[in-house]
Amino acid sequence: MKISDKLLQVQEVHKLYGEGQNETAALNGITFDVLPGEFLGIMGSSGSGKTTLLNCIATMLKPTSGKVLLEGQNISSFRGSHLAKYRGSKIGYLFQEFELLDNLTARENILLPLSIHGVNPKKAEELIQKLAKQFDIDEVLNKFPSQMSGGQKQRAAAARALISNPSIVLADEPTGALDTKNAKILMEKLSSINETDGTTILMVTHDANAASFCSRILFIQDGVIFHELRKKVPGESRNSFYERILTVIAQLGGGSINVL
Ligand SMILES: Nc1ncnc2c1ncn2[C@@H]1O[C@H](COP(=O)(O)OP(=O)(O)OP(=O)(O)O)[C@@H](O)[C@H]1O
Ligand SMILES: [Mg+2]
Repeated sequence: MKISDKLLQVQEVHKLYGEGQNETAALNGITFDVLPGEFLGIMGSSGSGKTTLLNCIATMLKPTSGKVLLEGQNISSFRGSHLAKYRGSKIGYLFQEFELLDNLTARENILLPLSIHGVNPKKAEELIQKLAKQFDIDEVLNKFPSQMSGGQKQRAAAARALISNPSIVLADEPTGALDTKNAKILMEKLSSINETDGTTILMVTHDANAASFCSRILFIQDGVIFHELRKKVPGESRNSFYERILTVIAQLGGGSINVL
């Protein structure tokens, strides 16, 4: 496989927080690749390093050592406008708590990443119409977050993450604040965008149901990968994958409370 076939390469990444007695090793040499078009899940217990990993990939944190390459480029070396461009155009980020701006409408929130990058209004309108349909939020585009349901807020946040057509979407527990029904709707929509548009998604989740939409899952513990599951191709059902995820959780930690 050529290096360029890999969209993201995480190589021997270590991240230490604090110093001396307060030192915490959050990532301990984690290494993996993500291929274009993958829907990759990351599971692991609280404190295992999942958010730290996502933030290193998003360049919000600098690894203590090791490299993160996106499309073959070492993103840890980016500075200034290069870094801003990378964050703005190559990465979409979806948070557990939506993080919409309260004083902007859904439409304005979704358009925010584009306004920073100076996209023309006609093109922006086309993009927002497409995403509003995909995420079923046509009806709420002119509403403020306080006037929207939790599910609608998260779908608007997902549209915002996708509007700049990023190379990869990083999602940290995107269903964590949603009820079961809205979690399923969000996952179906992310999964369909992954399949139809080939958008690469890297999603941290505690929820085996949400994880069953992924094509591959990395289980991390103490800042390294300790298990990997891959959906069988062609055609393993989501139910069958879900059962296998539960089996791993049960085998590895004696129950979801210990492992996830
Ligand atoms: N800013 C920080 N300063 C010091 N230690 C930190 C900091 N952020 C995280 N840690 C520590 O690093 C480890 C990994 O934290 P991280 O937030 O990556 O875990 P997580 O897997 O995302 O957990 P959760 O499932 O609870 O969100 C934990 O031990 C945590 O206490
Ligand atoms: Mg976290």
